Amino acid sequence: MGAGDDAVIRVGRSGPLEGTVAVAGAKNSALKLMAATVLAPGRHVLRNVPRIADVDTMAELLGRMGATAGWEDEAAGVLTVDVPEAMDPEAPYELVERMRASIVVLGPLLARFGEARVSVPGGDDFGHRPIDMHLRALEELGATFTTSHGVIEGRAERLLGTRVLLEYPSVGATENLLMAAVLAKGTTVIDNAAREPEIADLAAFLAGMGAEVSGAGSATITVEGVERLRPVDHAVVPDRIEAATYLAAVGMAGGAIRVDGARADHMEMLIEKLGDMGLRVDDGGDGLWATAPGRLTAVDVSTLPYPGVATDYKPLLVALLSVADGVGILTENVFAGRFRYIPELVRMGADIRVEGHHAVVRGVEALSGAPVRAPDIRAGAALVVAGLAADGETLVSDAHHVARGYQDLVGNLAALGADVAYSSSDEA
Ligand code: UD1
Repeated sequence: MGAGDDAVIRVGRSGPLEGTVAVAGAKNSALKLMAATVLAPGRHVLRNVPRIADVDTMAELLGRMGATAGWEDEAAGVLTVDVPEAMDPEAPYELVERMRASIVVLGPLLARFGEARVSVPGGDDFGHRPIDMHLRALEELGATFTTSHGVIEGRAERLLGTRVLLEYPSVGATENLLMAAVLAKGTTVIDNAAREPEIADLAAFLAGMGAEVSGAGSATITVEGVERLRPVDHAVVPDRIEAATYLAAVGMAGGAIRVDGARADHMEMLIEKLGDMGLRVDDGGDGLWATAPGRLTAVDVSTLPYPGVATDYKPLLVALLSVADGVGILTENVFAGRFRYIPELVRMGADIRVEGHHAVVRGVEALSGAPVRAPDIRAGAALVVAGLAADGETLVSDAHHVARGYQDLVGNLAALGADVAYSSSDEA
């Protein structure tokens, strides 16, 4: 049973969990690396690519533009992208609407072809997400933009390197700018750059293509533009958000698990917070060991740009706090209005009050299973994880959102001994 539009995940109370799961490559890196292939004609090889719906969408977008992206070895996560000399530099509405990350083709298209057309992304379940910083940064390199009929059209004779100070360390704006700068003439310095591990992965990918990039992973990235780039063979960084999902699962259900491939150095702040809650996480070399001794203790958490606690961990943390001992306050500093899953958790018996960008979570002894709806990828995963600590049956509908970002959440949790399976909505 797969994850079509009517997919429902059924979860029963579970635990203690035991065994080993392996994390896939990071969605938020793989999509950008696929976009970056546009920068150089030829055959690129990406390894450790997650088999998720968003990767299929990015492959479709590359296909519309004239490239060919496909699995060389799907089971092993090996994807190839053949990039031609000439392309149609356009991201159409239906794809940008389906996957907002489509806008990261803007920088590479402008850099390589001097033109790009990208549909204006609409709102999504995180609220309005503007791209003004992306456009302003590219304008500083000499691009010009016009918007008509819902399409942003960008042009640039030749991008020129300069110093760009981002007013906020936006992940997407940093990526678009970095991918544009590698083929610009001269030196670009990106100040107040986003520092996420996925940015460092993109920089390593670009360096493999022959780009000259230094400082990625810090707040200042320096790029010396080059005339031409070549195809690359690169393995995607492990998905820290997927890894966090299994840590949250063992926190909810108890037990001791190993998360293969997860990188402790990419999750330091989260591991520290989880430690404060009583979940023991040890760096096991190429992976993490996690042990939940019993009921966790509530803590306060604030989301921040990396190296702070990522906003993408937040639904998982709210789920953990909902059954922890005490009251925890979760503060969202990255996105406004990213609390759509909270009413769903409340339907499961959680005691949560939202005030502005704070969620005040008073832990209860146990949740109670209920039909709930996944509003987006991470919140959907958090509802599944919450179901592990809920009496009776939890049915998470709209589970196709989960498949946008997780290769096999259900199979992996089941392998740890959780009572989780797909059911069809007819049965629900
Ligand atoms: C990426 C991740 C997302 C993660 C987020 C923050 C992908 C596909 N998505 O999203 O999962 O939650 O980083 O870690 O990688 N902003 C503006 N103007 C802009 C750009 C951003 O106001 O031009 C605002 C956003 O509305 C938001 C904040 O800046 O409030 C952070 O956004 P950003 O870091 O750009 O996140 P994304 O790249 O969209």
